[in-house]
Amino acid sequence: MLEEKIKTFAALADETRLRIINLLIEGELSVQDIVYSLDQSQPRVSRHLRILDESGLITRIKEGGWVFCKLNNDKSNKHLLDYLLKDKTKQNSKQKDFQRLYDLQKSRLNAANDFFFKQYKEQYYVDPLNQFSNVALDNQLYQIITENVHTPMSNFFDMGTGSGKMLSLFSSLAKNCVGVDNNHTVIKMAKSKLTQANRNNCKIIFGDITQTEGMEIYGKADLIIYHQVLHYFDKPQDLIKAAKNLLNKEGYILIVDYLKHQNEFLRTNFSHRRLGFDENQINDYFQKSNIELVDKIKGVSFKQPNVSQLIVMAWLGKKNYE
Ligand SMILES: C[S@@+](CC[C@H](N)C(=O)[O-])C[C@H]1O[C@@H](n2cnc3c(N)ncnc32)[C@H](O)[C@@H]1O
Repeated sequence: MLEEKIKTFAALADETRLRIINLLIEGELSVQDIVYSLDQSQPRVSRHLRILDESGLITRIKEGGWVFCKLNNDKSNKHLLDYLLKDKTKQNSKQKDFQRLYDLQKSRLNAANDFFFKQYKEQYYVDPLNQFSNVALDNQLYQIITENVHTPMSNFFDMGTGSGKMLSLFSSLAKNCVGVDNNHTVIKMAKSKLTQANRNNCKIIFGDITQTEGMEIYGKADLIIYHQVLHYFDKPQDLIKAAKNLLNKEGYILIVDYLKHQNEFLRTNFSHRRLGFDENQINDYFQKSNIELVDKIKGVSFKQPNVSQLIVMAWLGKKNYE
């Protein structure tokens, strides 16, 4: 016990390691992002990360060719981290670290937008794996929604709606539906598709799904879906936090995405940031936003030539009454 404490305090007795803890307060980060934010060499940062990991303050998680780090904010560390996190002093180094991180994330967001813009402009629907239309999956999604969410819903939001597939499938279950996307080309496609199909209860709006404050004018949602969207974001928990504020008292959030996989080419060629998710991760994201995992589908698997197996999962969370 005493030995553990000595290890923890020794790990914290270093400026760089405190800066890393500060960065991780905002959520998990990849090693590359920490390296960039601290403006230090990779080997140096990796050494500090190893010390923090060995002290139990952080966990390193390997995901394909990348490693992500997150704070272990469990019982044994909670008081100590709470104490550190309360430190609101705007030290110079801390501000600079966050500024570099912010700039990096912004440039990445622009790169992702360019990617989608090009894909949609060329009428090529994102990555080849997303072209699938799978009735078995659609049926499982329909079932998980109707078995849990009270229908007809008042409001249903589809974040990163793309061509509006989720709205086409589920708009009959709600009085009002809102699809959000930040790509004008795809918004046009989705609008014309939904108009042709007489989905008059659907609105498609231009917006950034990481900043949902302005969306309150559409009311609170009974259900928010992220269908094949989360893997484009370094910090998916930010999207879940943003969604939570839009949910009504006991609203639901449905994440449809790949189960953890090994297809690194989806990062290099198709702008993915995360190689899928497992249930622990989703649980962790949910818990941080006071959402409880209430149901999931059993998963639908896709086999493509030269691609290691991909399984699509859906996890349904319910906001805890606050
Ligand atoms: C792979 S597509 C999925 C589309 C749709 N959900 C589906 O499964 O059919 C991802 C969508 O997320 C949108 N997107 C990515 N980043 C976004 C952001 N920050 N704000 C709003 N939309 C975003 C892209 O424009 C794209 O249409």
